Amino acid sequence: MAEYILVAVAWPYASAKIHTGNVTGSHLPGDICARYHRLKGDHVLMVSGSDSHGTPITVVADKEGRHPREVFEHFHHGFLELFQRLGISYDLFTHTDTENHHRVAQDFFLALLNKGYLYTQVQKQMYSETQQRFLPDRYVEGTCPVCGYEAARGDQCDRCNTLLDPKDLINPRSKIDGSTPVLRETEHFYLDLPKLARVGLIEWLQTGKEHWRPNVINFARQYVGEGLQGRPITRDLDWGIPVPVPGWEGKCLYVWFEAVIGYFSASIEWAHNHNQPEAWKDWWYNPAARTLYFIGKDNIPFHAVIWPAELLGVGRLYDDDPTRKLNLPYDVPANEFMNLEGQKISGSRNWAVWMDEALDRYDPDPLRYYLTAAMPETRDTDWMWEEFVRRNNDELVATWGNLVHRALTFACRHFEGRVPVPGTLEDVDIGLLNQIEAGFETIGNLIAGCKFRAALSEVMALAREANRYLETKSPWFQIKEDHQAAATSIYVALRAIDSLKILFAPFLPFTSERLHRYLGYEGTLFGRSYTTTFEEPGGRVHEALCYDDSTAKGEWQASYLPPAQPLQWPEPLFTKLDESVIEEEQARLGLPSRR
Ligand code: MF3
Ligand code: ZN
Repeated sequence: MAEYILVAVAWPYASAKIHTGNVTGSHLPGDICARYHRLKGDHVLMVSGSDSHGTPITVVADKEGRHPREVFEHFHHGFLELFQRLGISYDLFTHTDTENHHRVAQDFFLALLNKGYLYTQVQKQMYSETQQRFLPDRYVEGTCPVCGYEAARGDQCDRCNTLLDPKDLINPRSKIDGSTPVLRETEHFYLDLPKLARVGLIEWLQTGKEHWRPNVINFARQYVGEGLQGRPITRDLDWGIPVPVPGWEGKCLYVWFEAVIGYFSASIEWAHNHNQPEAWKDWWYNPAARTLYFIGKDNIPFHAVIWPAELLGVGRLYDDDPTRKLNLPYDVPANEFMNLEGQKISGSRNWAVWMDEALDRYDPDPLRYYLTAAMPETRDTDWMWEEFVRRNNDELVATWGNLVHRALTFACRHFEGRVPVPGTLEDVDIGLLNQIEAGFETIGNLIAGCKFRAALSEVMALAREANRYLETKSPWFQIKEDHQAAATSIYVALRAIDSLKILFAPFLPFTSERLHRYLGYEGTLFGRSYTTTFEEPGGRVHEALCYDDSTAKGEWQASYLPPAQPLQWPEPLFTKLDESVIEEEQARLGLPSRR
């Protein structure tokens, strides 16, 4: 039965370009999951957008003397282009500065307020006397009280990931001018996490989480186990979503409080854009729907604790049926980090492989392939240029690409450009096809369980089997003596390739589409991404990435390639990279030459 799958991907701050670490951390695993479920015939909704508020944006705006809106619009535009080039197939990639998101976030806030899950409290907050203003958390730096890390940010420690309040920092200092901030009184709304813990949050975290990654669920349980405290969810800021309460002018919703609501507001926007304003409910109120959140490990507390708490507290919004409740996350498959050549990625030191630049030099599928093969699912990994070249040459070119090219060109040459008509299949033939057919279940289950690395390596192992089959059969010798035997071998190889095309498709969508055409099919496996602009009732216009799957034909099932189907003469799927690429790329990073 077709299932409802919400693929929710962390909203990137629109204040810096996207690098390989961001892609392998969340966008790519989300895309693989979405494409797999689409092939299976499930109802997929994949949403995300640019996180346009928060200090990451204002820091850049301050530095460049620009308005925060200009900053986020610039990066947002770049994200749309990048995802299209890389094949990240969002049904909607929007941003948090839309009228829709502002309204939904404010309604979320008001629902929590009405249900008694918010309270106000006067607190002392870091105030800069030199600048005469309250300092956002990220503008304060100091020593982490938990692990002793000296450059902890006011909101979170980068070493131990603990969520902090800037007041907890030992030796706090302003990041703007290094001055020591003072504490001054200000009033804020707090999310009553202790109360939410009692009404179901703890119970939810304790039950039915066997399919969660251990590091994620352990972190969440430990976080609530330490005794939750209320968290302030408003700030003294002017860039953000205004607190929708009279008398609170000049204060905004805290970026983390409202950004996570984006998953919900984007689903509503998507439904609205498709003239089916209630359609989002199939993912949010249907208890059988599965919602998966693809994020990096620094986002775990917000997605495994705070966001579920917000959903639980609101319970129901924009719906009249009192029996319904918003779905809590089905899974939060957080990834660890991907470093670069042994060192942590750092945008400010330009120690990064920027994804748009990599796409200027390499095809999207080899990049996606390596980013999946080295995905940091259970521990930190590294982008190594040497590995990229090796995997491209040994695995994509020599194994998969070569298999496809040999079989297709042979058929084109010796069988009048058609799928050969086979004789009776023998055990070896049926054996190979059965083995590959079984992959649909095992590999499908691995993908559904977010074990993307293992899934991809299983597909490549099957491609190796198919290569071995072709080697053993050697149709290039068979053809000289027994035309029918060669026909059968090539037919079986093409059937295997046709199946592998689907098994590889969530990972390598561009080359699988090409191969689909070479094999003589009409139509496409997947839909089409496009960017467009929307004008909202209040007049705001925004640009978004959308996906049209009305033409998609791919199916997650073994090949039934018709004999005699006309083929197309193929171009090689992949290109061999010269070893010199490694040194060239390392030099680009400023690494000393080893020659
Ligand atoms: N902008 C945040 C980051 O890049 C992630 C926000 S995820 C969201 O770390 F769901 F809160 F939007
Ligand atoms: Zn720490």
